[in-house]
Amino acid sequence: MLICIPEVLSKADVADFRRIMDACTWEDGRSTAGAQSAMVKRNEQLPPDSEVARRLGHRVISALTANPRFLSAAVPLHIFPPLFNRYAAADGHHFGVHVDNAVRGDPLTGLRIRTDLSVTLFLAEPEEYDGGELVIEDLYGSHEVKLPAGDLVLYPASSLHLVTPVRRGMRVASFFWLQSMIRDAQARSLIFDLDNSIQMLAGRLGRDDPETVKLTGIYHNLIRYWAEA
Ligand code: NI
Repeated sequence: MLICIPEVLSKADVADFRRIMDACTWEDGRSTAGAQSAMVKRNEQLPPDSEVARRLGHRVISALTANPRFLSAAVPLHIFPPLFNRYAAADGHHFGVHVDNAVRGDPLTGLRIRTDLSVTLFLAEPEEYDGGELVIEDLYGSHEVKLPAGDLVLYPASSLHLVTPVRRGMRVASFFWLQSMIRDAQARSLIFDLDNSIQMLAGRLGRDDPETVKLTGIYHNLIRYWAEA
């Protein structure tokens, strides 16, 4: 399931990120790629262990953990330190079809996670560049994603995906992975649907409506049943 989360970062935050990132030295994106993906990856990244990448990454994580829709959709256990990349039309940047590594380790913190979900947080407006669509394949076909700056997409890390060549301008994004407390994608999807329905019911009937309270209890008990925490 693909889930888009709007306005994770404000436009002012995005502008600040871009100003900071423009002043940075970038490196070849293949430094963090696995053997297969290195063969098809052509872009640039902020050095993952650089002070600036860590600082911006903390800001992304703070925004995520304050976002109810993200928490409901991902039920995150561990979030990998966000990375930052850019694709320039002038250099023919793109990222061919690949699957992300199943396990990711961060040498700086020692954190090691199973990558259940991949995340792309867009940091350039769609009008700033042509091409650069994130194409994700799932059971229902392939989906093109290109979101406003500040929005993100969550998708199963197990899916084949690619970034089409950027033909004009520059695509800038943050990308990272997370391990969910709910490993099973179908169970996670049920939890998300249930939570959305409860929120709508609570809006209509009030949080203290007896059936809403019961459903809220069922929601938490399902998490209790499925969660690895
Ligand atoms: Ni990838």
